[in-house]
Amino acid sequence: MAREYDHLFKLLIIGDSGVGKSSLLLRFADNLFSGTYITTIGVDFKIRTIDVGGEKVKLQIWDTAGQERFRTITSTYYRGTHGVIVVYDVTNGESFVHVQNWLKEIEQNCDVVSRILVGNKNDSPDKKVVQLEEAQKYADQVKIDLFETSAKDNINVEEVFHAITKLVLQTKKAATASAPQPKKDTTIKVGGGGGQPKNKKGCC
Ligand code: GTP
Repeated sequence: MAREYDHLFKLLIIGDSGVGKSSLLLRFADNLFSGTYITTIGVDFKIRTIDVGGEKVKLQIWDTAGQERFRTITSTYYRGTHGVIVVYDVTNGESFVHVQNWLKEIEQNCDVVSRILVGNKNDSPDKKVVQLEEAQKYADQVKIDLFETSAKDNINVEEVFHAITKLVLQTKKAATASAPQPKKDTTIKVGGGGGQPKNKKGCC
């Protein structure tokens, strides 16, 4: 029987309220868009399996509430996260200014995690206030890949999720390659105590 998937990754979408986190997920998972704004309460998640270079990757994608009042709940969802998508709204300058706070939140909650920066709602040039050059300069400074998307017009949404998945896959493969190989030793240890050291923080 064919395997359901080769890798299972947990992704998290964070960013200010109303930037389009739920809409990006809805577009990616169900290819739908709704113009109605229903704010996320706490968290929600969707699953989609994609093919990356012939490998099946099952993505469990958590969409967090951007509203401040949910911050204590959402911060607990970093546990076990492999990749984080940080979203701002290109028509809302404040949401871009707040990206640095979201990146800090990642640092506080994760040791090693792949990250991608997304400027969403890139579909109304007359309303755009965060220009690509400015965002790209910041992204280069903090060494994070940047995409401009539109969940509404389905621009670059697939690309974002494929890019973060590839980053996570690379990190996983690099970690596997550098992990010490088990010695060919016939001694059997009883009582454990070995294994990988536990990650202090939540992320992988
Ligand atoms: P919270 O759940 O409060 O954190 O919000 P969110 O970031 O999940 O935002 P959501 O996806 O609910 O979208 C907020 C509003 O922006 C909704 O009215 C969406 O229809 C609209 N919206 C989302 N993505 C886009 C987009 O790409 N373009 C345009 N023009 N509107 C969008």
